[in-house]
Amino acid sequence: MSEGLDAKALWSISYGLYVVSSRSGEGRLNGQIANSVFQVTSEPPQVAAAINKGNLTHEYIEESGVFAVSVLSQDVTMKFIGLFGFRSGREVDKLSQARYMPGATGVPVVLDYSVSFIEAEVVGSLDVGTHTIFVGRVVAGRVIGGGRPLTYAEYHELKKGKAPKAAPTYRG
Ligand SMILES: Cc1cc2nc3c(=O)[nH]c(=O)nc-3n(C[C@H](O)[C@H](O)[C@H](O)COP(=O)(O)O)c2cc1C
Repeated sequence: MSEGLDAKALWSISYGLYVVSSRSGEGRLNGQIANSVFQVTSEPPQVAAAINKGNLTHEYIEESGVFAVSVLSQDVTMKFIGLFGFRSGREVDKLSQARYMPGATGVPVVLDYSVSFIEAEVVGSLDVGTHTIFVGRVVAGRVIGGGRPLTYAEYHELKKGKAPKAAPTYRG
């Protein structure tokens, strides 16, 4: 961290909490928790996600060029976050423990604790060191559940949640 930086200044940036999911070239499926997801343009609608280079989801997005984002609701459990946010698809088949449907692009759209989802096709990517920012053109999306989207602040305050090192917002 740089000397002129009070880390709390970064902690006050607002986010939501999402499952970013994708598939491999051979059709294997995986997903991970991410807070660093945001819409970047409206015409056409495009979204971006910052994904750690070591994650299996990163490998799959690079291979298939498609990803889905499920917007998590306030009733998401820490068990669900533990599975998708602290374990890798390299060690556990996460999708066998979740409800999902095949999206228009062939990605698994995770339905558990999801307010809505969008699907995107990668149109560009930016190497930012530990992470890649994938930019995707939105090709589908729907509101699927009731409930309110969970904010990252609520995740910390209400759920007493933490983020692992692979998260761009890791607090050390
Ligand atoms: C609250 C929270 C926020 C996270 N945000 C991100 C993120 O924005 N980008 C990222 O690459 N990883 C993020 N992670 C970490 C990944 O979810 C984690 O490394 C996951 O195990 C990767 O799984 P995979 O190897 O199956 O893809 C976050 C985890 C948590 C719990």
